[in-house]
Amino acid sequence: MITKPKGTYDLLGVDAKISTYISHEIEDMMANYNYELIRTPIFEATELFHRSVGENTDIVTKETYDFKDRGDRSITLRPEGTAGVVRSLIENKLYGNRNDTIKLYYNGTMYRYERPQSGRNREFTQFGIEAFNSSDPMIDAEVISIGYYLLNNLGIEATVHINSLGDAESRKKYTEALVAYLRPHIKELCSDCQKRIDTNPLRILDCKVDKDNEILKNTPKISNYLSDESKDRFKKLKSYLDILEVNYEINDKIVRGLDYYDENVWEYIADSDQVTLGGGGRYNHLVENLGGPSIPAVGFAMGIERLILNIKENIDLSNLEQMVDVYIMSVNEEEKMHALEIAQYLRLNNISCEINSNNLSLKSQFKVADNLKAKFLLILNTDDLNKGLINVKDNATKEEMKVDEAEIVDWIIGNI
Ligand code: HAM
Repeated sequence: MITKPKGTYDLLGVDAKISTYISHEIEDMMANYNYELIRTPIFEATELFHRSVGENTDIVTKETYDFKDRGDRSITLRPEGTAGVVRSLIENKLYGNRNDTIKLYYNGTMYRYERPQSGRNREFTQFGIEAFNSSDPMIDAEVISIGYYLLNNLGIEATVHINSLGDAESRKKYTEALVAYLRPHIKELCSDCQKRIDTNPLRILDCKVDKDNEILKNTPKISNYLSDESKDRFKKLKSYLDILEVNYEINDKIVRGLDYYDENVWEYIADSDQVTLGGGGRYNHLVENLGGPSIPAVGFAMGIERLILNIKENIDLSNLEQMVDVYIMSVNEEEKMHALEIAQYLRLNNISCEINSNNLSLKSQFKVADNLKAKFLLILNTDDLNKGLINVKDNATKEEMKVDEAEIVDWIIGNI
């Protein structure tokens, strides 16, 4: 038997239903907030990720799927969505002569060669949004609130952990202070952190291995190194989040794992188990660094698999179990023809229904209808049909009644 590659999964059953439910919620929200869909390639030139996500990040050094294609080009399966969106913005000159905010969203598969565990796969799905052309912290707040209210609408309780990484100058000063503080203690930290002190010192702050180490509890605070302008941006962000009634807390350990961030950054952390469901921030220099004009940007992404896990563990799924509104039961050829016709009318009127397409016995059809959690059964029989009637059973109350065949669609619409 050929099995799926390590770190991948087949989306099936209840997970597939939750995934569809999440996608619908995303589509509704994106329309309300005026975001447009963008779909970029699953593979891009390797260089794109080196220049955006960062040469020294865990993602680029350890986790990308890189290969040479048959034309000897260096290709990488996208580990995240932002780089491709920025590449597309530049290549298609989406910014044109616009002075409004350009709002884009995506929902697609990403690839990272990580150690698979619950909520961490090698192929996974991210929903993400990117807003370009505004440096106003009000858009940061709007972007943060979209993720927060998406979780809220899905029934997931979460807190947004926010931080400011400041501008390049503040970050440089802070990084120097952090390295000076950590260097004497570096042997007491994990082997990854011993490398990070020279390559990516900020990442030591959110090290999962050393998170309870006293040394990391007493590091200098980035808030003491921010410029007045960065402080003001962060302050404004907080007051906008208050207006939007987003549940947030300040967490100076949020540094994010990708190099392109500056200023305000955040993560969505589930209240139930403290899992990080998503994260994002400002990246005011990425468009320019990738060869475009100087355009500020802000965005976030969420892992759909982590949302599915949270929903499965914490939320009553009974409303997702219902597959169809109506099941139409038929046995002989004449009943089947009526069933087909009624089904067609119901479906064209947005009533979901199923028919017996396997020549099942009546007993088996009752079972199937129960499995599908049908609200109404239409139990066709030749005698009733000859009189122009349909036998309808309410599957919850088990009450049965006869309805005119000519009125069945209206009757169902009125009683569903
Ligand atoms: P990220 O924090 O690397 O940010 O990923 C965002 C989310 O994707 C994570 O919080 C997690 O839910 C999910 N995720 C990441 N890796 C995996 C994995 N191996 N398995 C399952 N889920 C995973 C970014 O990717 C940025 N591009 C976000 C962004 C958009 N920043 C600005 N705009």
